[in-house]
Amino acid sequence: MLLLLVGLVAGALLSAAGGAELSLRLRGQPVREVSPAFLSLTLDASLATDPRYITFLSSLKLRTLARGLSPGLLRFGGTKTDFLIFDPKKGPTFEEEIFLSLLAKQDAADLCGFRPSPQDLIEHLQSQWPFQTMLIRGELDKKKHKNTTITRSTLDILYNFAQCSDLHLIFGLNALLRTHSSHWDSSNARFILDYCDSRNYDISWELGNEPNSFRLKSGIHIDGFQLGQDFIQLHHLLSNYSRYRNSKLYGPDVGRPRKQTQKLLRSFLKSGGKVIDSVTWHHYYVNGRSATREDFLSPDVMDTFIADVQDVQQIVDATIPGKKVWLGETSSAYGGGAPRLSNTYIAGFMWLDKLGLSAKLGIDVVMRQVFFGAGTYHLVDASFEPLPDYWLSLLYKKLVGPKVLDVSLTGEDRKKLRVYLHCTNEHHPKYRDGDVTLFALNLYNSTKYLQLPSYLSNKTVDEYLLRPYGRENILSRSVQLNGHILKMLDDETLPTLREKPLSPGSSLGLPAFSYGFFVIRNAKAMACI
Ligand SMILES: *[C@@H]1O[C@H](CO)[C@@H](O)[C@H](O)[C@H]1NC(C)=O
Ligand SMILES: *[C@@H]1O[C@H](CO)[C@@H](O)[C@H](O)[C@H]1NC(C)=O
Ligand SMILES: *[C@@H]1O[C@H](CO)[C@@H](O)[C@H](O)[C@H]1NC(C)=O
Ligand SMILES: *[C@@H]1O[C@H](CO)[C@@H](O)[C@H](O)[C@H]1NC(C)=O
Repeated sequence: MLLLLVGLVAGALLSAAGGAELSLRLRGQPVREVSPAFLSLTLDASLATDPRYITFLSSLKLRTLARGLSPGLLRFGGTKTDFLIFDPKKGPTFEEEIFLSLLAKQDAADLCGFRPSPQDLIEHLQSQWPFQTMLIRGELDKKKHKNTTITRSTLDILYNFAQCSDLHLIFGLNALLRTHSSHWDSSNARFILDYCDSRNYDISWELGNEPNSFRLKSGIHIDGFQLGQDFIQLHHLLSNYSRYRNSKLYGPDVGRPRKQTQKLLRSFLKSGGKVIDSVTWHHYYVNGRSATREDFLSPDVMDTFIADVQDVQQIVDATIPGKKVWLGETSSAYGGGAPRLSNTYIAGFMWLDKLGLSAKLGIDVVMRQVFFGAGTYHLVDASFEPLPDYWLSLLYKKLVGPKVLDVSLTGEDRKKLRVYLHCTNEHHPKYRDGDVTLFALNLYNSTKYLQLPSYLSNKTVDEYLLRPYGRENILSRSVQLNGHILKMLDDETLPTLREKPLSPGSSLGLPAFSYGFFVIRNAKAMACI
């Protein structure tokens, strides 16, 4: 009773202190609708620097975690894309062979349900992985990339992982294989297509990664016009396979749109824009080497993204208007991420803000670098433990639907208290048409309260507040949802994401440096029906 009283008094005091007032637009049409695959994932091609490590993808736990984030796309690409060469004759590595033989024993109807996963093998690879990540890092730092041979088994394991995780695979083909007349040499791609076709693999395609830095990475310069012609050549090649005639082709996967890159993108789109299904570009806020904790909490850093989106959109509007624009690879910090930042709770501010801004500004798909792999910007770490950004992504996926709504706020600096609004995901079993999901980030060093307008004051709101767990506070690798630490129940089971129902009329509280989701139930938003 006493506690209740204290609570009531505290609540009254806090609301007397005032908060930010929300203004939501629930009528009329949604502002826009993004792809159902809006939040999608990448695997970096560096995972195949030594193809033995592709066998990680046989882990049951990794598959469970990936399936949690389905449906979506899984892009296999990155710098190493342009240094992978397929050998159709070469046999599997020892590790690949062990896994594939397990797979072969599997009931054909149940290629995904196999267990136990080859645990000894995975543990062995995990013990070697730190050395491998140093090697990958070294190649990246020295900008010296070696060619790596991939085999049929590499493709088999990759495809099996995507399919069993209910993700659609996008495979990046090597664009640095060139003929004497400096056109793209498609002969290796043909081998890949022949093999994938023979295995009935349904795949979408890309060609090359960050062509704006080809010269730096390989000494080869390819201009936008030529790259466009190379894409047309690939498009012709695809149309020769009945299976791939209508498969999707995405590109050109340029880096952040600085001046030279803008020029490359513009001439690429003029030359080859008609054969691509979406325009892809990459975005990182900061350099992983030098990034600070302040950067990760800075509204100004987060806002730099807006100008980049607008630059790309202007170029697309001027060349192939109406074409969808995707973030084909994106994370907090480039160069593998920022140690102790990109893999902790603090990374969630940039990530959630990027998801919010992207949908609002008209980006159709956002592919998160990386689901699993070298560096620190992964969603799942080297011990296969999900990190805070994994749980944030999972909540986003479950609660946020593709229809984007307008929301604004008065009473606080909207750069530091950032809010976004979507229709609630219609596939969530608990919610129904007309419900809306608000998500918010508090970059103030004090608790802030959001006040719903009076016409929503008698609605029940389900709160999903994510806070760091443990002494490291915002640099923690664990999170709690509404006070309960999030962890897997076992390798095959994700925890239930339990809401905290707020009584009608409550203000929505966000502690200092925190983020969360609020589902406004029975909001009857016309835009969501
Ligand atoms: C990779 O292989 C291609 C084709 O054989 C060759 O042109 C290129 O120079 C090789 N690159 C490196 C870094 O060895
Ligand atoms: C398509 O296939 C035909 C017949 O096999 C071949 O002659 C032609 O060169 C192929 N075209 C491309 C673009 O690969
Ligand atoms: C937030 O405020 C507390 C207490 O005043 C202070 O110790 C802490 O350093 C502040 N944190 C940041 C990131 O400014
Ligand atoms: C909520 O408020 C609306 C008007 O603002 C009223 O029509 C409705 O009956 C109220 N519902 C409840 C459950 O109090």
